[in-house]
Amino acid sequence: MKDRQKKYRVYVSRPIPEPGLELLRASCDVEVKPTDEIGPREELLEKVKGRDALLCLLTETIDKEIIEAGSDLKIIANYAVGFNNVDVESATKRCIWVSNTPGVLTDTTADMAWALMFAVGRRIVEADKFLRAGKYHGWSATMLLGGDIFGKTLGIIGVGRIGAAVARRAIGFNMRVLYADVRANKELERQTGAEHVDMDLLLRESDFVSIHVPLMPETTHLISVRSLGMMKPTAYLINTSRGPVVNEAALVEALRDNVIAGAGLDVFENEPEVNPGLLDLDNVVITPHVASGSVETRTKMAIMAAENILAALDGKTPPNAVNRV
Ligand code: DGY
Repeated sequence: MKDRQKKYRVYVSRPIPEPGLELLRASCDVEVKPTDEIGPREELLEKVKGRDALLCLLTETIDKEIIEAGSDLKIIANYAVGFNNVDVESATKRCIWVSNTPGVLTDTTADMAWALMFAVGRRIVEADKFLRAGKYHGWSATMLLGGDIFGKTLGIIGVGRIGAAVARRAIGFNMRVLYADVRANKELERQTGAEHVDMDLLLRESDFVSIHVPLMPETTHLISVRSLGMMKPTAYLINTSRGPVVNEAALVEALRDNVIAGAGLDVFENEPEVNPGLLDLDNVVITPHVASGSVETRTKMAIMAAENILAALDGKTPPNAVNRV
């Protein structure tokens, strides 16, 4: 650590919480893109040149061209648990570590999946808009009725860290929990009574379907016209994973035609663009990819990304490496 003496140069593609930057600045020469907006690709292509480490966000596509331009890179530290924006194979071929930020955002993201369940199931956003529009003229037995959450069936697609945390929260709401995953999670079954079922059964029987799979070719458009058609007309779809897991055009149709009751979405197929059809619908709650967005969690992610960089620059295996070089 001592002999690094700021000889290493780090580029940070967007501002991140200060504690992570402080860690890096203690021993590295750090440049941070000064404005918090997605920069032009050409800028990143220039900025990676001569850098030993890149700390990037999921908004940057780190493909072969960027990796080749960064010929001195020792590590690409992604500030996210998902790393579908990084061409890991190209990085590995060039002996560049790729790291992510697992674990620290699990509970914050699980909380957000639940927040979306409540927001759409209990029509909270609609009710807020209604009241602000001056439409509340007194209590009514039929006004803005939603669906109950307690006692219902929650279907979780993918029970990695986040999906399992979503399942554990269901105990407090006395829900039946179904999960679909390539692997059974016996510990989760023991803790929560969750049942390992196939996708079709999960879609048919769940009142809330929450998605927690990584984006891969196998999970792209996992939720399709067919799967939406299998859901109950009273069911809600929640997505806090990655947008392309859901066929967004098919979802808009399903929401318009009341094939399902509603959706809570934090991620979109072509972020930052959102299918205009979603904007017109009352039975969908949409948030701008903020599921991990608590001060505490974003700070932990910054520290974790910095620690991965420091380890790689010290010639060690980064604690959260997703590849082996
Ligand atoms: C992730 O980490 O993959 C989220 O999408 C952002 O925190």
